[in-house]
Parts: sequence; C-alpha cells; structure tokens
Amino acid sequence: MRCVVANWKMNLTSDEARSFCESMLAQFTPKAGTEAGIAPPFTMLSLVSGLVRAKGLQVFGQNGHAEPKGAFTGEISMAQLKDAGCTGVILGHSERRQYFGETDAALAKKIQAARQNGLLPLLCIGETLDQRDAGQTLAVLGQQLSILAENGAGPLWVAYEPVWAIGTGRRAEAEQVREAHAFIRAELNRHLGAAAAQVPILYGGSVTPESFPELLGIPEVAGGLVGGASLDPKKFAELVKQAS
Ligand code: G3P
Repeated sequence: MRCVVANWKMNLTSDEARSFCESMLAQFTPKAGTEAGIAPPFTMLSLVSGLVRAKGLQVFGQNGHAEPKGAFTGEISMAQLKDAGCTGVILGHSERRQYFGETDAALAKKIQAARQNGLLPLLCIGETLDQRDAGQTLAVLGQQLSILAENGAGPLWVAYEPVWAIGTGRRAEAEQVREAHAFIRAELNRHLGAAAAQVPILYGGSVTPESFPELLGIPEVAGGLVGGASLDPKKFAELVKQAS
C-alpha cells in the first residue's frame, strides 16, 4: 500500500480549502492500493471531509487530546475529530513536540485514545540536526517508537520526518532515508510482531513531485507526509499519481 498525506499545518481558509479540493479531485481518481489523505486545520475538517471522503480520501486531524472531554481550553478530543469527519489523526509532529511540549508519554495515551475512537493514528518521529550530528539519530527514533511497546498492536501509520528537512528545501539523502526506514521497520517488528507488516512508513521533509519518485524507490518508503508542496492542488495531485 502507498500513502500520501497533505499536512496543511496552519494554512488556508475555507474558501481556499474548497477550491483546493475541487481542483485536486478534478486531476486524479484515487486508485486501489493508494491511500490519499488531507490534514486540514480543525475549522475546515467538516468542509474537507464533506468534499473528499466520498472520493475515498482520508481526513486527518493535526492533533487530538487524549482525554475524552472536560476543561481543556483550546484542545479537541478524538471523538470530536471523528464527529467532524476524520478517519485519522497526526500525532507527535515535530512542530508539536518542539513548540507545544508534546511528550512521548502523552503520545502513548493519544494513540490509545485515537484507536478507541476509531481513528487511525499517524505517528511522526524524527531527529533534530543536533541529534543527527551527534550520531544519535537511531537512538532518538528508537526512543520515540518505544511507546508502541505498551500500546500493543492496532491501526497505525508512522512518518519519519527528520526535523532538519522540514520546510527547509533540504530533503534527506536517499541513504539517510534508507537507513532510518530500515531501522524503524526493525523496531516495529520488535514491538508489534507480525502486526508490524500492516504499518506503512511514510517519509516527510521537503517532499516535492521532483523528489518523490526517488523516495518511493527506497525500500520501506510507503509514501509521503507532505507540508509545503501539499498546499498546491496540482502538486498534491501529482504526488498521488506518482504513488499510484
Ligand atoms: O508533516 C509534513 C512536514 O512537516 C513536512 O513539511 O513543508 O517540508 O513538506 P514540508
């Protein structure tokens, strides 16, 4: 299975989201074996879901809270994401870890809460440049994946996003991607056993239609989690076509 997910981050308005979806859907028909998804800001979840779900696309929240309800101003529950038309939720994006103090312990609870509400967790992991330069990449990835040991098997996608490659135009080299994805696969096997085979590993970080074909040729790269290039319907449609 190949997967391409657009992470819009804090971009676009409702009008822009509507024209994006209409333009994108006019450019491709999703094919069996390829999962395409969009992660819009919370305010556009229902709108986007209404436009793309019938065409077979997934809709992801960009974050969700582990608690089912209560006094958590500014947060959104997994049940509310589901209610807004989500099929999944991005968890642990490096921007959440870096700017909002997201911890591995909180993420372990979020994965569980997502599954309990029928949402597919898309767990993001990745090292900073300092960690890579210090030779800690695999140790960092191993630590971030260790929460899976306590979460058990269940629906899951993983995205490897080296922090230094996000929004920088500096995509990771093929060998760096190969090494990280092979390690992630081995860790998934160790933590999840046979169920690991069901978990696709996406790459994220300055993915464009120019770089995606090479990435898709790397073993264990099942697709992409795309930021900047996913704001252009033509580029996103092209990425989905390349994955099909
Ligand atoms: O989640 C996607 C991401 O962080 C990569 O962003 O803009 O480098 O494609 P970008």
